[in-house]
Amino acid sequence: MDQVTRKEKAAFAAVDELVKSGMKLGLGTGSTAIHAVRRVGELLAAGKIAGIRAVSTSFQTTMECERLGIPLYTLNAREIGGALDLTIDGADEIDGENRCIKGGGGALLLEKIIAYASASWALVADESKLVERLGRGFPVPVEVVSEAWTSVKNYIGSLGAEVVLREAARKVGPVITEHGNMILDTRFLHDISPGAMEEELNNVPGVVESGLFTRVRPRVFVARADGSVEERG
Ligand code: 5RP
Repeated sequence: MDQVTRKEKAAFAAVDELVKSGMKLGLGTGSTAIHAVRRVGELLAAGKIAGIRAVSTSFQTTMECERLGIPLYTLNAREIGGALDLTIDGADEIDGENRCIKGGGGALLLEKIIAYASASWALVADESKLVERLGRGFPVPVEVVSEAWTSVKNYIGSLGAEVVLREAARKVGPVITEHGNMILDTRFLHDISPGAMEEELNNVPGVVESGLFTRVRPRVFVARADGSVEERG
C-alpha cells in the first residue's frame, strides 16, 4: 500500500470515529490532514453529518473547505467562541508519549492555537512519523517575528543546535508565514526534553511559537504498512 493511501486511511478512520453532527471542528494542514478535510466534505455532502462549524489552520485548508462547501469560521467568531470540540491534524514526528513536532508546512502557529483550544485533539499519520525521541530526525520549526530572526537564531544556537532560516522554494528569500513571520528550522545536536524545550523556546523574545506540541496529548491514528489503522491514546 502506498504512502498516500496510508495517509488517507488514517485520516478517514479518525473522521469516521470522532466527527459528529453539530461539532465545532478544527481542521489541520498538510498532505495527511487534507484527507480528513475531504472526508468531512464527503460526509456532509452525503448528509451523514450536519451542522459542522469548521476553523481552518491555513490557506491550503481554507481553500479545500471552500471548494467542498464546509462552513468556515474564525476561532473568534460568535459561533465558535474560542473553543472547539475536536481538532484533527497531521504531524511531522510523534513520540511514544504522543508528543509531537509540527510545522513542516509552516502552519504551526494556528495549528497550535487551535489544538490547545480543543476539547479533544487527534493526529493522523502514517507510521513513518513515529519516532523514539523527538528532534533527532525532523528539525523543530520555530516561528519568529522578522525583526528578531538573527537574535533568536543566535540564542537557540547557544542551546546547542544548528539553526537554518527556512528558504522559500519558488520565491527568492525566506518563507514568510501566513502571519507575516519567518521560520527557523532547528536541529538540536543533543537529545532534548520536549516539554522543557517547548517552554524555553516560548520564553525567547521574538519567538511567536515553536513546533513542539507537548502540553496537550492527542489521540493518534497511525496507518501501518499493511493498511491497518492503530489508535493510541
Ligand atoms: C503543517 C504541519 C503538518 O501537519 C505536518 O507538516 C505533516 O504534514 P504531512 O501530513 O504533509 O506530512 O504541521 O504545518
